[in-house]
Amino acid sequence: MENLIDIESMNNDEIEKIISLAKEYKFDNLRKNFSNKHAALMFFENSTRTRFSFEYAINSLSAHPYIFDNSKSSSQKGEEAYDTINNLSAIGIDTFIIRTKDEFLIKDLKEKSYYNKVHFINAGSGKTSHPTQALLDYFTIKEIFGEIKGKKVAIIGDIRHSRVAKSNIALLNKVGAKVVTSAPIYFKEEIEGAKYVQNLDEAIKDANVIMCLRVQNERLEAAINLEDFIKNYQINSDNLPQNAVLIHPGPVNRGIEVSNELINSKRGQTILEQAENGKYVRMAILDLIFSKGEEN
Ligand code: CP
Repeated sequence: MENLIDIESMNNDEIEKIISLAKEYKFDNLRKNFSNKHAALMFFENSTRTRFSFEYAINSLSAHPYIFDNSKSSSQKGEEAYDTINNLSAIGIDTFIIRTKDEFLIKDLKEKSYYNKVHFINAGSGKTSHPTQALLDYFTIKEIFGEIKGKKVAIIGDIRHSRVAKSNIALLNKVGAKVVTSAPIYFKEEIEGAKYVQNLDEAIKDANVIMCLRVQNERLEAAINLEDFIKNYQINSDNLPQNAVLIHPGPVNRGIEVSNELINSKRGQTILEQAENGKYVRMAILDLIFSKGEEN
């Protein structure tokens, strides 16, 4: 694997390779040494889970993480992002882990990087793509159910602004899950590979997995009626189907898309297992990318 840009351009073998390697990191105490590798974490949007788990993963692989602080970098003097990449590549950075509002930036940087061979990992781009989140969600679901083919996954809430929803729908379709989305009209988006069901009860009926999405206040075009959203789309202990697993990419708006009591209950703990699994999945991704770099 040279880069990880989106789920759509991955094949099933690549996805399963990441999952099986992540399992080795989690359960077999696999350890590798990539002390000759240098990875920059370039986050142009806020992050807690993704940034820390990548940084933890880089350290666990004995590679070197470098935090790019945009507010103190020469991009504030007008430097183009691709000039920054080429200069950092000249200094010795070989892997760029990027989070950005701009869904096209990473592909653009990949095309315009020429100084040394470098690798790119998408840590979340705009409203369209968050491939490492979809991979860790798949890892978590697979860990619980063993097999996901034929399982029903209901994705609930702010579909329109969610890169997590889009990458998950792409991945879940590749592995044969049935996907439904449910959202009020103001959060609705028709996405290929997912059936939209407006009524929440109907959408979550017989679901094996309920994926709640964060209401993305920072991306809203207009104010929403939060009370109406909570009344009709919040997941809580009363409406979470008995046999369903609750997942959420985080950060959670407590009391909005998920009730406070559900998060605090045992059934809410899978959300923290997702965060833990993110570390192993990102170790696996970095392992494959660092190893590819060795071959060049
Ligand atoms: N799920 C997720 O991407 O969380 P962060 O924004 O905290 O990285």
